[in-house]
Amino acid sequence: MDSKIQELILQLGKTHHLPEDAYACLIRGCSEESAAYAAQLAVPLRRQIYGTDVYVRGLIEISNICRNDCLYCGIRRSNHSCVRYRLSPQEILECCEEGYSLGFRTFVLQGGEDGFYTDALLCELLRTIKARFPDCAVTLSLGERDRESYERLFDAGADRYLLRHETADVYHYQKLHPPSMSFEHRMNCLQDLKEIGYQVGCGFMVGSPFQTPETLAKDLKFIETFRPAMCGIGPFVPHHATPFADYPQGSLELTLYLLSLIRLIAPDILLPATTALGTIHPMGREKGILAGANVVMPNLSPVSQRKKYELYDNKICTGEESAQCRSCLSSRMHSIGYEVVVSRGDQRKLSTSL
Ligand code: 5AD
Ligand code: FES
Repeated sequence: MDSKIQELILQLGKTHHLPEDAYACLIRGCSEESAAYAAQLAVPLRRQIYGTDVYVRGLIEISNICRNDCLYCGIRRSNHSCVRYRLSPQEILECCEEGYSLGFRTFVLQGGEDGFYTDALLCELLRTIKARFPDCAVTLSLGERDRESYERLFDAGADRYLLRHETADVYHYQKLHPPSMSFEHRMNCLQDLKEIGYQVGCGFMVGSPFQTPETLAKDLKFIETFRPAMCGIGPFVPHHATPFADYPQGSLELTLYLLSLIRLIAPDILLPATTALGTIHPMGREKGILAGANVVMPNLSPVSQRKKYELYDNKICTGEESAQCRSCLSSRMHSIGYEVVVSRGDQRKLSTSL
């Protein structure tokens, strides 16, 4: 490894920030050795705050109906081969019920931008979930809504909101999305969510078409300055029925390296080892944890609908029961010396660490 790269990684681990051109330099310097070195610094930092605990979130994919047409996404509006479904509030509650008995204390309601889920419907659902499971956190991941909507959902009990920024470079954003979507609106949503009081998660795909070391450097600078509570990153995986069907998937090595770099930038961040990472390598999620991630998100969706929530090809866990996913991940984490814990899994601060 280049000694300049080694020095930059060391400096990042100490100061938790770097100039944007240094981030670009770090990304260009991705190699087996630099990734191993970044992980070697990231893992103790994560351990200092979270020990060997791995937080779980029960992911409930509530709808694959989406008004948007993101060029990378398998549930985009223009994909007419996608068989659409949506879960009723009753079905969502049943998933929570099952999840609670399996030891989940966070439920993530994720879906396309589906107008069926009005503020009124979601607020009632949130109140019911919070009344029935007062010791649980609820995360929403339902895309862009207006500020008033985010406020109502927060007041009804939502704790966290995941909205990946997808890329922090406006031109790159335009290449991944149709003209009807705007980078500015995306960023405004993230700002609104933070101001309202949500624990906010941003994130991006690694290896998305037209991504460069420069756009990734902007992503890292964005994480450094925006200070999200969470950050979801995973490799881009092509979906056969999208305009990006023929682009290559993102690299395992670069994803793991970025997980470590993000841990160095934000030591206390909640960082999932994503399903997409588990999709491109059979040990992807274990490798993610060993690079500095501290969250996993097993699937709690009804098995009858799972295959339909196909954001990308070959997605794992689409045939398993919820209980299977949960125990599979517990044993996978156990096998590498980590432990899935029964807890809401809120962000911890260095000062309140173990
Ligand atoms: N490959 C990997 N991740 C994808 N997502 C959407 N499509 C793909 C794909 N083809 C990610 C996006 C979105 C999240 C829910 O899933 O980053 O924000
Ligand atoms: Fe779903 Fe392993 S996590 S089967």
